[in-house]
Parts: sequence; C-alpha cells; structure tokens
Amino acid sequence: MFKISRFTIEDLERGCVTDNATPVFKWSYESDRNEVKVTSQKIVIGSMEKEIREGQSFTYDGEKLLPCTRYEAQLFAVSDSGETAEKTLSFETGKMDQGWTGKFITDGDYVFTEKKVSPKVMAFRKKFDAKGKIRRAVIYSTAIGMYRLDLNGSKVGEDFFAPGFTSYKTNLQYQTFDVTDMLKENNTLLATVSGGWAVGSFVFSRVNRVTADKQGFLCEIHLYYEDGRREVIGSDESFEVSMNGPVLSADIYDGEEIDARITEDDMTFKKASYYDFGFMPHISAQYGLPVREHETFEAVSVKSVKDELIYDFGQNFAGIVHLEIDGSDGQEILVRHAEVLHPDGRLNTDFLRSAKARIRYICRDGHQEYNPSFTYMGFRYMSVKGISRDKIRVTARALYSDVPDNGSFTCSNEMINRLQENIRWGAKSNFVDIPTDCPQRDERMGWTGDIALFARTAVFNYGCERFLGKWLKDMRAEQKKTGGIPNTIPSQGYGFPVTMPVIAVDFWGDASILVPYALYMAGGDKKVLLDNYEMMKKYVDACRFWAGFLSFGKRRYLWNTLSSLHFGDWVAPDVPKMSQWQKRSKWTATASLSNTARLLSEIAGILGKEYDEKLYRKVSEGAASAYRKYLTDGNGKLLDEFQTAYVLPVYFDMFKGKEKQNAADNLARLVRDNDYRIGTGFPGTPYILFALADNGHEDEAFKMLTNTRCPSWLYEVKMGATTIWERWDGLDENGNCPIGDDGTDTMISYNHYASGAVGDFLYRRVAGIEPITAGYEHFSVKPLIGGGITSAEGHVNTPYGEIISSWKISDNLFSINVKVPIGSTCHLSLPDGTEKLLANGTYNFEMVLGDGVSGPL
Ligand code: BGC
Repeated sequence: MFKISRFTIEDLERGCVTDNATPVFKWSYESDRNEVKVTSQKIVIGSMEKEIREGQSFTYDGEKLLPCTRYEAQLFAVSDSGETAEKTLSFETGKMDQGWTGKFITDGDYVFTEKKVSPKVMAFRKKFDAKGKIRRAVIYSTAIGMYRLDLNGSKVGEDFFAPGFTSYKTNLQYQTFDVTDMLKENNTLLATVSGGWAVGSFVFSRVNRVTADKQGFLCEIHLYYEDGRREVIGSDESFEVSMNGPVLSADIYDGEEIDARITEDDMTFKKASYYDFGFMPHISAQYGLPVREHETFEAVSVKSVKDELIYDFGQNFAGIVHLEIDGSDGQEILVRHAEVLHPDGRLNTDFLRSAKARIRYICRDGHQEYNPSFTYMGFRYMSVKGISRDKIRVTARALYSDVPDNGSFTCSNEMINRLQENIRWGAKSNFVDIPTDCPQRDERMGWTGDIALFARTAVFNYGCERFLGKWLKDMRAEQKKTGGIPNTIPSQGYGFPVTMPVIAVDFWGDASILVPYALYMAGGDKKVLLDNYEMMKKYVDACRFWAGFLSFGKRRYLWNTLSSLHFGDWVAPDVPKMSQWQKRSKWTATASLSNTARLLSEIAGILGKEYDEKLYRKVSEGAASAYRKYLTDGNGKLLDEFQTAYVLPVYFDMFKGKEKQNAADNLARLVRDNDYRIGTGFPGTPYILFALADNGHEDEAFKMLTNTRCPSWLYEVKMGATTIWERWDGLDENGNCPIGDDGTDTMISYNHYASGAVGDFLYRRVAGIEPITAGYEHFSVKPLIGGGITSAEGHVNTPYGEIISSWKISDNLFSINVKVPIGSTCHLSLPDGTEKLLANGTYNFEMVLGDGVSGPL
C-alpha cells in the first residue's frame, strides 16, 4: 500500500505552535511495491492549494497566517500505479507579531545581592473567573528564570525548565498551553519561578544574576467563550506575588529544598510590580524542543550503607527522582545523587565539585508525592536518609529534550551493542534543552567542542533539527564581532579566556560549521547553511587571522599562536597533563583550519557563492600545505608523532599523492605499537577508525574498535559503563578513579558524549549507510566487514523515509537486506566489489564470500 509515512510542520508531527510566517512542511512516503514514482502531490493549507512538482517539502507562501489560530494542512499524493494517499496535520500559530497585553512582573521589594547562590523562588498568583461557557482556553507564558505553571492545583503541561535556555538578552521563548480541560468557573493560576539559568547561580564559577537581578514573569490567558467573545488576561499588577512558598530553595546544580507543610493558604501574597529589566529580547513561540520525562527506572538494588539507603537504578542518566512518602509532620529526608560509588558502597560525590545535587524534603503528615521541578541531576545511584525503607517508594525518570528517535544500530557483538546504547544515553543525558558537556557536576554547559565532534553521530540517532537549530540561533547571537565563538553557548557568564573569547578556538569554535554541516547532511535543507553562512564565514576569517598572527608567508597558515588558550588534543590518554593536551593545538588548530575552510568552500559552492568557494579552498590548501611543510617530513611522516596528528590530516584529506597512504600507514604503526589502544583526545576520536579503515587498515580499525584494554571504547563497557566517560581512564581495573592532579581540577565525569562520536563509524561503515548527497536523495550502502562481526543492522530515518541496511554472514554466505525509501536512490556495494543502483524498495542479495554474487533472491 502506498502511504504518506510522515508529515511535519517545522519538523514536528504534532503540537506545533509557530510564530514563523512561512513555516516549512516536509513529508515522506512508504509502499510495499518497489520502484514507486509519485506522479502528483498537492498540499492544502487553509484557503491555499498548491501542486508540488518537485521535492518533498514546501515553504508556506499563501495568504498571511493569522495569529493564535488553528490550521489544518492536508497532503494528497498519487503514485504511478494510480494509488492515492493523504494525510492531515494540524498546527497552531502563536502570537506572531502581535504585541503582548501582559507585562513582565516581579516582586518589587525583593533585593537579591548574594553571590554564588540562586535567588529565592517567586510565586505569582492570579485568580480569575470564567464569565460564561468556555470553548477554549490558552495560556502564553514565559519568564526570566525557570517556571512551572499550576492551574487549579495541577501542573500545566508536561514540560520542564520552561522557557528553556537561550541567549536571553537576544532570544527568549514563550510556551503555549491549551488549558481548556483544566478550566473551572473560579480559577487560580500559580506560576512558580526559580532563578534557573537566567538569574540563578550557573557555570562553575557559580556566577548569578547574569541576565537580570531577579526573576520576572510574563503571561496572557486567552479565554474563548462559546458565544464568540474573547477575553485576554495579561500579567499586570493585579497578579499577586509571594516569596514564602513550599519551594524553600531551587538551584540547577544544588537541587531543591521543599517544605511540604506549606500550602497556598500559608503563603503571604502581595501585589506584583511591573519589571523593566533593561533589555528586550525577541520573544518567540518555542522553536526548540521541550524537556520532558522519558524512561522510568525502578531501582535494581537497594542497600543500607551506614545511615543511608543506597538505590542503584542500573543506568547512568540525567533526570530526577519521584518520591512517594508516608511521612510525619516535620520529618526531614535528604536525597543525594552520584554516578559512581566508593569501594565501601557509599555514594561518591567527589567529582561533582561545587554542585550539591541534593534534595532536602520536609514532610507533612501522611502520604505525599514529590519530584523536583527546577533542577536535574546526572546519576545512577541515589541515597536517602531520614526515612525507613518501607515508608518511601522511589523511582527515577530520565529528563531530556523531546528529540525524536532517528536511527538504530545493532550487531552480533554484544559489547558493541552496549557501546551503542551508551552513546545514545550519552546523548540523551546531555540533550537537556541545550547540548551540554555533562549532566552532573557544576558545568552542564553548552560546550561547543563536545557537540562539534559528536554532531554527526547525534543526527544518526536523533532528529536534531529543532534542538540544534535553536542552539545555533544563540550561537549566531553570541558570536563576537571579531568572529570568535564563545566556548560555551549560551555563555551565560562564562567566557574564555575568562572574560572575552575574542580569539578563535579550534574545534570548539568549529561547532559553528560542523553542527550546521551535520544537520545539512542529515536533512538536506539548505536553510541551515543559509541561516548560518555569515557566522561560519566570520569564524573562518577569525581562524585565518589568528593562524597568521605575527607570521608570514606559508607560515601564516600554521596556527600555533596562543596555544594555552586552545584545548588541543583534549583528554588524550597518551599524555597525562592538561598542558600537554593543549600544547598539541599546533596540530589540531592547523588541521581544523584546513577542514573548516574546506567545508566552508563546499558550502559556498552549494549556495552559489563562487568567489567564497575559491577563496576558502585556497585557505584550506594553505593550511594543509603548512601542516605538511612544518609538521611532517614532506613524505607523510610526522616530525612529532601521535595518533591525533595523523588522524586529522588523513581524514581531512590534507595530504598529496602517496603522502596520504604513508601517513595512514604510520598511523597504523602507532596503533599497532600501542596495542590497538586509543591515543586520541576529543578532536581525533571521531575520525580515527575512518582514517584507518578507509586507507587499507581495516584490521587495525576493527582491532581498535573491539579492544577491551584501557584506553578503549570497550574497556569502558567491560568496566560496566552505561554511558560514555569523559576520560578514557575514568576507572581503573579495580573500579577506582585514578584521575589525580593533572591540571584539570580532578575533572572526570562518567557521562560525556564526546568520545561516543565513534557511533558515526558504526552507522557509516559497519552498517555502511552514508549520504552521497545531503538529505540522502542519493546514498550508499557499503558494509565494512571485520572484527569478527557476523551481522549488523542499521536503520536511519531520512527526509525520504527509512533506510535499512541489515547484513549477516553465516557459513561463508553473505546476505544483505536493503530498504531504499521513495524519492531516493541507493548505490549498493557488496563485499566482492559488485555495485548496484537501486530505486526505492526492499531488496535482498546474497553471495558466497570470496565468490561471485548469487542474488537478487
Ligand atoms: C568540559 C568539556 C569541555 C572542556 C573544554 C570541560 O570542563 O566538561 O567537555 O569541552 O571543559 O575544556
């Protein structure tokens, strides 16, 4: 049957509320017949009807969409055999360019001057009556701070951490909640606003009041009556504010303190005041993804250790606990969180640094339930003190941005399957409104380098258009005039070096190119390149400037300035000190310049900017030749050898002629000499297996992938890791942490996705699925066999639908099942070198290894 499998607006299948006057619709098809052609497509939106002759997307260009209005979009298609398909999608427009009736309000008397802590929590209240029969009720709301809405005593919506983390002074999101079903005749709206990222203490220096000196709240309640009337209640001085609610304190890193005895009746409310916080961001309908609860965990074991109960959830993740308590008035319960245990079974919180990651809960009498609203923790273990085991029931919930699943990878090696799971958990735990480095210690910041290197793996596993698209908008807002990109986005009080990232920092700043490029390759939408083009160009120009700072001739492309401000071969396990990782920035920065300039040249070509295309190709070649001239013997051998220094120029194609093969051979030698253990830091890790396998060293690549000795990916798995570690040697064979004083302030997290970037290799080489053109209109399937792996299966959702590559070897018989979505073509390469061009459909082939092909079956 021919059908429309996916139909989206602004990359959402449902629940879209948009302020975009020209939203984008995309769709894909499915059929049980091979080689289907779509002969006609029509989209109907409101009064607009349009034939779509080419492609599977449409940018709305009909009559102006009205604000606060619900619309339907219908898609009709006919296939070459006359089958028809249709699908309907509903969406809503937000406030669009209408101004706000409501104004920002705050507690006018509250003065918050303490340093390194978060402000007191504010609660705003509005009582309002429905003056007739309600047809629909919608709340539009946002805050400076982090807010939760309750209407008539129940939480509104499922979102956490609204309005989300953005570069607040430029971009602020508002949320839209349909509350029709929650409305009564007499209503009480309560908005609890903590300091969150905007006002609370954040980044490891624990700065606070970065956006504003206290919280603010803005909302509009729209009531649509059955008789056609509409009433808008905007936040104003008729709202009340209280500072003595049950949330005694709330801080992202430290956790919450709750006094459950305090009810609304105990709170003192007074008139709220208007709040002018001195800047006006652009306030738009949420364009990122909400953070929501996902998996629920029951403890796999509960043990009594000293005076605490220790719960093990069996999985490291980012999230919160849910407590069901039979308590007595005033009973105090203390909950702590950790990723690892000390050998004696106590929680090990040594690596959380200043983050307290705690919940202090004061009970009321009787049965009660609680979960935090303004904090989250990175943990696998949790401890409870102050209550006996029979009086408390604990579950834990993973919290992360609502990214849709986009792919899967499995194979015959169970340890690799666990690695793939760990990669996915690394992503889920660090996709908490922004892409973070880690979810547990006093960071949880939008470190650019981590996602720069992980982006291609991320887009295989999750649909990241909105999640990373939102983050890139902040990157554009925060790029320095000099072209430098802050090392964390939003930087929210953190800059590097300490105050101003005026310089460009290789690989970390490369996120400005590598992230849009990864989104483009996965989604095929040029808009992401167009939106970010100026930023990319300014960034590469800054890199050129800093590479050439005080040097001349060919040397001006050798980027060896200010190495202590770069991260170099960050966390490379073959040199133990931070300063030694940074010293490698001469290699990483020069290779980064060659790579970003090459990609920028390619992007300029895609966008029809011929001058830039040539210009940046020259820059790329300049950096490549400086690398060869000053860092190698001119024949593919490095003057100072280490894995990353070979990986980058080989993978980025910076060598000429035979040099490349020589360099790959030298890399393979280093890998063999190191017993197939990894020696790369952040920059080399995503690419090392490609650099080996694509240059005749498949064997070394697979031996490295399947190695279980430290440092290696599977060593972590062997040690029971359920996520990806920040440091390859995060635990020794005895389960102790060996990280000492290496200049990083005992920096070890067990939930960093960066080195999980090997996931890209699993999809692109082991499953063999690779886009030839952006968005997979043309793609290849070319499985790489090795490492004793006897079967592998990759699924990837593309703009055209699902691709599957599933192969297995049994008794020397290789068989493969390939699914090619409608609208795309697949170039299939079989292990014996046979090539096939496949239109859409499902295909099976088999061949005897070492012999000719015997399929199609
Ligand atoms: C973070 C990293 C980050 C790095 C840069 C660390 O503290 O956790 O992942 O990229 O700093 O130096």
